[in-house]
Amino acid sequence: MQSFFKTNWIHSLWLILLFAGSLVGETVTPKDRLIVETLIRLNRFDVSGNEKWKGAVQRYARSQRGEEGYFELVEQFSVEAELPELLRLVEEDPTSALSAKSVQLIFRLGEQKKLSRLLSGSPKKKANAIITLIGFVKTPEAQKLLDEHKALSAPATSVAKGAPALISTADDIKALAARTGNVKQGKVVFQKFCFACHKAGDLGLDFGPGLSEIGSKLPKSELLLAIVKPNAGISFDYEGWTVETKQGSFLAGIVSESDEELTVRMVGGVSQKVKKADIAKRTKMKASLMPEGLHLAMSEMELVDLVEFLSSLRTR
Ligand code: HEC
Repeated sequence: MQSFFKTNWIHSLWLILLFAGSLVGETVTPKDRLIVETLIRLNRFDVSGNEKWKGAVQRYARSQRGEEGYFELVEQFSVEAELPELLRLVEEDPTSALSAKSVQLIFRLGEQKKLSRLLSGSPKKKANAIITLIGFVKTPEAQKLLDEHKALSAPATSVAKGAPALISTADDIKALAARTGNVKQGKVVFQKFCFACHKAGDLGLDFGPGLSEIGSKLPKSELLLAIVKPNAGISFDYEGWTVETKQGSFLAGIVSESDEELTVRMVGGVSQKVKKADIAKRTKMKASLMPEGLHLAMSEMELVDLVEFLSSLRTR
């Protein structure tokens, strides 16, 4: 009996709060949630023609910041009202997993001009991290933005001091593979260069192959090869495709398909579905979706530490 009253009391308080919130017009209401859930069930994602739905989606998306399904929601409904939040995430920490997703979404919303402004206003280190994320997008718009930025600010990406030379021979690989690095430092390197595409234990995002047991699968020399020459052997199931739709949008990523639609998974773990009937053209990419030359932005020690870290990821 007592607990009945208690939960009931909390419930009422909750309703009062929600009611007060709905008066302010900012807070999500149970009705908003219901509208959004229904729209999702009906596959109705274009809410531009209905102010009531649009408002509900905006308030609901806002309430989902920091929650699991937030990015999917913003993507599905193209919630432009969340643009400032996406930009804030990128500005706050461009090396975070959330920023990789945010950059993808900013391009999907067609608002990359804002990124360009953020780039020119950011200190060099931050700008370089943002450039790395833009490089992952791989659409013509992304390339254009990178070119523009390069033209504006002389050498945009600086090569780290003591960067390993091109590591072109088998002997180079052998010599590096023989060295011992520091696992803890290597983890830091992973978070800087690899997190946007690989999961390693509880770190990183699910896009390329999972690396949680890669140390059992590949010896150090092959780990090095995978980093230095990603195009040498592209893992089956992870080949890249570009897809152009009849509506003129352009997607790049890993494709899976059902009878009626394609799902394109992009860097950062954001997915987009395209009806097969809407596809104008799809092309298999020749190069790996894993960028070449990542090691050129590291010092030699960082590369050795990274390989030590990867090598420590083993089946238990
Ligand atoms: C933009 C996304 C992206 C980034 C960033 C990236 N990778 Fe990859 N990686 C991939 C994809 C996609 C594949 C699978 C296709 C291929 O084999 O080329 C892959 C494959 C690999 C493989 C081979 C896995 C296997 O099971 O054979 C290794 C090892 C690897 N990456 C390590 C790294 C490391 C270390 C970094 C950071 C220095 C990194 N990757 C950064 C996308 C990425």
